[in-house]
Amino acid sequence: MSPFDQPIDRRHSDSIKWSKYAGRDVLPLWVADMDFAAPPAVIETLHRRIEHGVFGYGGPWPSLTESVLAHLEGEYQWRIEAEWIVWLPGLVTGLNVACRAVDGEILTATPIYPPFLSAPHFSGRKLNRAELACTDDGWRFDHAALQAALTPATDLFLLCHPHNPVGRCWSRDELLELAALAEANDFIVCSDEIHCGLILDADKPDKRHIPFASLSPEAAKRSITLMAPSKTFNIPGLGCAFAVIPDASLRHRFEHAMHGIVPHVNVLGLAACEAAYRDSGDWHRELIGYLRGNLDLVIATVNREKAPKMKSVEATYLAWIDVRELGLAKPAAHFEAHGLGLSDGADFGAPGWLRLNFGCPRSTLEEALNRFTIACRAA
Ligand SMILES: Cc1ncc(COP(=O)(O)O)c(C=O)c1O
Repeated sequence: MSPFDQPIDRRHSDSIKWSKYAGRDVLPLWVADMDFAAPPAVIETLHRRIEHGVFGYGGPWPSLTESVLAHLEGEYQWRIEAEWIVWLPGLVTGLNVACRAVDGEILTATPIYPPFLSAPHFSGRKLNRAELACTDDGWRFDHAALQAALTPATDLFLLCHPHNPVGRCWSRDELLELAALAEANDFIVCSDEIHCGLILDADKPDKRHIPFASLSPEAAKRSITLMAPSKTFNIPGLGCAFAVIPDASLRHRFEHAMHGIVPHVNVLGLAACEAAYRDSGDWHRELIGYLRGNLDLVIATVNREKAPKMKSVEATYLAWIDVRELGLAKPAAHFEAHGLGLSDGADFGAPGWLRLNFGCPRSTLEEALNRFTIACRAA
């Protein structure tokens, strides 16, 4: 039995995932956190930090910074300088700050994690969108659509890498093409790499995570990379993330946009970050194996049905499912009525699609997939 098989009751906890359907028999497979305990090294570190008893304002310390540098170099062969790091309480904060740090228009590729659609608006910036192409070989950037959505005022591209919700781990060639577009049109790329530790196809050499900024010095110069241990090690509630911004002037613009609105990072999150990056490699390897098993189950279930469809998921624990052929007026509500809480594709700019979070014990997933099948057949 895997430690990930152990169900943990979150129903009467602070979990927003589980409290959404409190009192109803609906399995929540929506918001992107997993129903697994954090790695033992993280939990032990948090106990030690709690024992200290003093929780004043905190900031990073040398061994924490070292753990980030070593993690990025060890996992992605990406060497960064300590001063390129800007600590943040979350990635969504980083997306909003990036939008405030530029003057012009913003471009992104849809479907996309909803804060990519709201951050430009909250920041008083115009958002232009290009649809990704859903091809027989999977999701791809549509370069004609990107060109058409680009304007001379475009200053920033919001990249999701790996992509939530379509699960792509963009290849070096795809990233190089984007970097060339950025160079030719002089825009910055803000690359949200929160899911970079969740490459499920890691056995294939082309399915490594390649940070956008690691492509070349030119790409680095026009990059803001957002990362966190939160998704991979299941600690998003601890509020700890960081931006890596190699270019000093861009970094100062970003820091300036943070002034007065972005608080210090939670000291427990900082402590957890070091333990996750330095001491949780075995837990991480086991997690990836477990998620692959869960993904196989999701694919087998979806493919057994006639109507819903999905492309392969290279990264994340999120399956992006096309249910348009079921002909449902309100797909998410239909699945909820059959006991399954999924994310509504409309929020991602794609009505008729649903996102299913398979980061849960196998027994929960099996029950959820039974309900999924019943809901499909009842449509
Ligand atoms: C692509 C992406 N960015 C950011 C976040 C949220 O980041 P945070 O909780 O650090 O604000 C998520 C959570 O699902 C995500 O999928």
